[in-house]
Amino acid sequence: MSARAAAFDPFGGAYQVDPAASLRWSRDEEPVFYSPEIGYWVVTRYEDVKAVFRDNILFSPSIALEKITPVSDEATATLAKYDYAMARTLVNEDEPAHMPRRRVLMDPFTPKELVHHEPMVRRLTREYVDRFVDTGRVDLVDEMLWEVPLTVALHFLGVPEEDMDTMREYSIAHTVNTWGRPAPEEQVAVAEAVGKFWQYAGQVLEKMRQDPSGHGWMPYGIRVQKEQPDVVTDSYLHSMMMAGIVAAHETTANASANAFRLLLENRSVWEEICADPSLISGAVEECLRHSGSVAAWRRLVTADTTIGGVDIPAGSKLLIATSSANRDDRHFEGADDFDIRRENSSDHLTFGFGGHQCLGKNLARMEMQIFLEELTTRLPHLELVPDQEFTYLPNTSFRGPDHVWVQWDPAANPERRNPALLGRRHPVTIGEPSKAAVSRTVGVDAITPVADGVVRVTLSDPSGRPLPRWTPGSHVDIDLGELSRQYSLCGDPNDLSVYEIAVLEEPESRGGSRYVHRTLQVGDSLTLRGPRNHFRLDTDADRYVFVAGGIGITPILAMADHVKAIGKDYEIHYCGRDVTTMALLDRLRADHGDRLAVHSSAAGNRLDIAALLADPVAGTQIYSCGPDRLLTALDEATAHWPEDALHVEHFTSNLTTLDPANEHAFEVELRDSGLTVTVAADQTVLDALRASNIDVQSDCEEGLCGSCEVPVLDGEVDHRDVVLTKTERAQNKSIMTCCSRACGSALTLAL
Ligand code: HEM
Ligand code: FES
Repeated sequence: MSARAAAFDPFGGAYQVDPAASLRWSRDEEPVFYSPEIGYWVVTRYEDVKAVFRDNILFSPSIALEKITPVSDEATATLAKYDYAMARTLVNEDEPAHMPRRRVLMDPFTPKELVHHEPMVRRLTREYVDRFVDTGRVDLVDEMLWEVPLTVALHFLGVPEEDMDTMREYSIAHTVNTWGRPAPEEQVAVAEAVGKFWQYAGQVLEKMRQDPSGHGWMPYGIRVQKEQPDVVTDSYLHSMMMAGIVAAHETTANASANAFRLLLENRSVWEEICADPSLISGAVEECLRHSGSVAAWRRLVTADTTIGGVDIPAGSKLLIATSSANRDDRHFEGADDFDIRRENSSDHLTFGFGGHQCLGKNLARMEMQIFLEELTTRLPHLELVPDQEFTYLPNTSFRGPDHVWVQWDPAANPERRNPALLGRRHPVTIGEPSKAAVSRTVGVDAITPVADGVVRVTLSDPSGRPLPRWTPGSHVDIDLGELSRQYSLCGDPNDLSVYEIAVLEEPESRGGSRYVHRTLQVGDSLTLRGPRNHFRLDTDADRYVFVAGGIGITPILAMADHVKAIGKDYEIHYCGRDVTTMALLDRLRADHGDRLAVHSSAAGNRLDIAALLADPVAGTQIYSCGPDRLLTALDEATAHWPEDALHVEHFTSNLTTLDPANEHAFEVELRDSGLTVTVAADQTVLDALRASNIDVQSDCEEGLCGSCEVPVLDGEVDHRDVVLTKTERAQNKSIMTCCSRACGSALTLAL
């Protein structure tokens, strides 16, 4: 055990101040370690944390709510007095009991049902803001963020209006210290509150049973119980009422408080969302990633296993640090940066993942969007009270500031000048942030011809802010009229003041490249998303062979620069019709002259791919980007190479529009989520997944960018994308859900 592992204290300073930052050393050096302080193994990297969430059998959730500090005898006696009998609910229930229950209870959480709650959330938020909008100074937590999520939860559960005040009172008192270290005397007070809460929840439940026709998750559960009493039992329903409130309340209150703190500390970002509410859904997602309200979650290891290469014996307890995973540079580019337009923010693990993933995630997202929308509209001049110290309840898992004091000048409230403002509303995005929310505007600084028919376009942020970090192989998605086009970044990843792309005018252009060549002017603005990298360079190889065809040189150049910088062996084969049409040649000759071989058909020195790759060389990786013809030839020429030696990127799609008359419906089984979803003939897999509350990113939606990729476990895929190589298609290990379908009647996905 390292000294740092021995010193790890999740109740202590550094973790409490910033859990993700305090675990950076672990992500970098010891991603799975044992903490003697708490008796848990701590898992800190994104891939490992996700893998743990994925497998509910090997990693049982049964300890998710277990008290870290054992309950005193006195507190136990107090609970007994109230017949307290909290059973496992969903979040800490093992299979096979959990999944059938989750399945029958999830309908009220689907996007089509959630829409009905939007007016209620807006009304409540508005009422709370009305109370303080003219005061000039307020603690957002006490005056709004603590109570609104609780009241929303009560409405969502279907608690009758007349019982709401009592329920609110008990559950506020109840703020159970499951994750903390209450002193013995506090434990009894907590037990009293919990006992009362339990009893009252039972009474409310009885009342609902008399007439279970109402709206809400509890009446729905009662109705399901009538059909399936073994799946939804009595004790479960009673526990669900309390557990549901706790699950929905503190998590959302804390997440919202974190979001306001983060956004107001990043003033320019706050101002951006005030000016453009379409950015709010992306901002919510990035706040959940960067400063989520669940810092860590727990699992019990049920059989000897390894995580991240470390042997972990059966019976071990895991603290899976979602906050750390969310800031893992291996998954999120520049993970510590706060970037509301980050394309993969929603990959965060703050809601968990897989079979137990938070059912209420889209309700929470809705609430947070409405809070932000209301305050950015009505109090855009809001600022944090300077020099306040933010305090956090010491605990391992839940994280949010106790208070967020803000101030403003009420005389400057925009609604005083323009009452019509109050009538304006921006629609909530249910689920993944919209494309608009993750788009950024960039200005065109320069358009420079770099070969016949090729221009280099230099882009920068109009307000001079640095652009997001990127790694070699990354591309950006740029909107050009109706189309979104992918361009690899080919500049210097260390210079974030500009991005550079090179664009070839294609004779067959559907408008994208023609627009860039004929219409785009210096000083124009473009809409861009990303960067995203589905063509990552494996920096561990010994040697690299780069093969570029035509404009495919763009990602290859950035890769070659990087490989040179880290002192690895490499060679570049650049193929084109004629040297005059080959972009960036001067730069390549200057920086990679001795490693560069130029192959031009006009000069009669075409690349002999078969000869180049005749003998597999251990430790060599081949990276290629270019026309399909070239990539197919490479695929064939490397058939006898190790499976993962060839990496390619395509740049055109040949997808046709979905024609329901020629398609068939099929079932998609989601192994991690325990669901089966039907994909209708007129629907994409992506559409069907989203309708079932499963988050999957997408951008191009035409099989080009790779953002919608999902691992396949079973069933044959009818691949229609151009992201996967022939070998990858044959391996049948993943599917681009925006376009590909099932050959037969079913697929099983690792989702
Ligand atoms: C489960 C976080 C809001 C209901 C979970 C889990 C986490 C979580 C980490 C466990 C996931 C796992 O084991 O994989 C959050 C956060 C929220 C939030 C960060 C707010 C930002 C809500 C809301 C509701 C809710 C508003 C209800 C209306 C649930 C339920 C489960 C759950 C029912 C159990 C699901 C199962 O085990 O099958 N949540 N939650 N949550 N959450 Fe949330
Ligand atoms: Fe781009 Fe599916 S969204 S490949």
